[in-house]
Amino acid sequence: MKKNTGGKNESKLSRRDLLTSAPLAAAGLAAGSLIQAPQGRGQSRNGPHEPLQPFKYDIESSVGWFGPGGSAKEANIEEFPISESIAGVSMRLKPGGLRELHWHATAAEWAYVVEGNIRTTVIVPNGQAETSDFGPGDIWYFPKGHGHALQCLGPGDAHFILAFDNGHFSEFGTFSITDWVTLTPPNVAARNLGLSEATIAALPKGELYIGQGKVPPAIPEAFRNGDPEPSQFPHKFRLLAHKPVKFPGGEERIVSSAEFPIQTTVTGVIMDLKPGALREMHWHPNADEWQYYISGRARVGIFGAHGRTLVEEFRPGNVAFIKQGFGHYIEQIGDEPTQILIVLNSGHYQQISISSWLGGNPPSMIADNFGWAKEQVARLPKGALGIL
Ligand SMILES: [Fe+2]
Ligand SMILES: [Fe+2]
Repeated sequence: MKKNTGGKNESKLSRRDLLTSAPLAAAGLAAGSLIQAPQGRGQSRNGPHEPLQPFKYDIESSVGWFGPGGSAKEANIEEFPISESIAGVSMRLKPGGLRELHWHATAAEWAYVVEGNIRTTVIVPNGQAETSDFGPGDIWYFPKGHGHALQCLGPGDAHFILAFDNGHFSEFGTFSITDWVTLTPPNVAARNLGLSEATIAALPKGELYIGQGKVPPAIPEAFRNGDPEPSQFPHKFRLLAHKPVKFPGGEERIVSSAEFPIQTTVTGVIMDLKPGALREMHWHPNADEWQYYISGRARVGIFGAHGRTLVEEFRPGNVAFIKQGFGHYIEQIGDEPTQILIVLNSGHYQQISISSWLGGNPPSMIADNFGWAKEQVARLPKGALGIL
């Protein structure tokens, strides 16, 4: 891991230096801009600051949970302390593998299917239930507290990335139906479920979590209460089928609450970078950014003010977390294209890029700010570049 670069050592000029012309020329700086800056470049105004927290975690190299029906690996603040607002889980289910009926008290669940096929059921507070089938490139969103279950349809295993809008969330402490029923006094559970106490008492104690079931039929069975009404508030969105925003260096598909109304607390993005591409320098005013590298590699630089910056390289299975408002860029590296799953913790997508910012200022102000000549300022981009 690379270390914090510390201060702006290359330009430690004293107040006296700033008032003489020779050091200015040596530093390649224009006098016009510096005379206007009473404290000068490179001087600390704010005293020492904590180094930036590590922003990379290798989720796929963690041990996780393994059972006969599937596996789960997670990154919450226990494993990845910086990620206070988003917890991630990489889950795999074998054909028929069942992530049992459960809900989450402290987080909404967002998921992107990397490979395989999954059937979900979900119940919403008005009692309306829904079942949907998901394939690669599809996402689901289950609001906090909505009861749900997942089962792999085959053929082959399913792999999906779950993102929860709370970094304190743990997948290994969810509200599972078997845990609840077997912790309830048998007489109460028997009375509630219409079964004998002996049947309740014979249940294995504790939580099933992920079990091995049978591969469900291609056509979903009717619900026990009859066929469901058509859902008024679907939990499914086909992200990879969504129209991409195209740039010279790649493309991105963005789903916010504008496109997927139930998804109120997060925005999801699939970003595809061609070899050599650069997702330009930008920041998100309203959200933290969580990334999972699906394929290919990239180098990410973050800027955390107070003279602090970090650069890390990412490969498939790595996770990144960039705090709200921190400047950052993504530099594609390697011969293979890079695909990144991005989750931001706001349903409203916002970003500001350095090029659109520079375009939205008068040229003389930019010239003064950097000490550049007018011809240099004229070469700067005038609008957002997205992916170069
Ligand atoms: Fe869940
Ligand atoms: Fe970003």
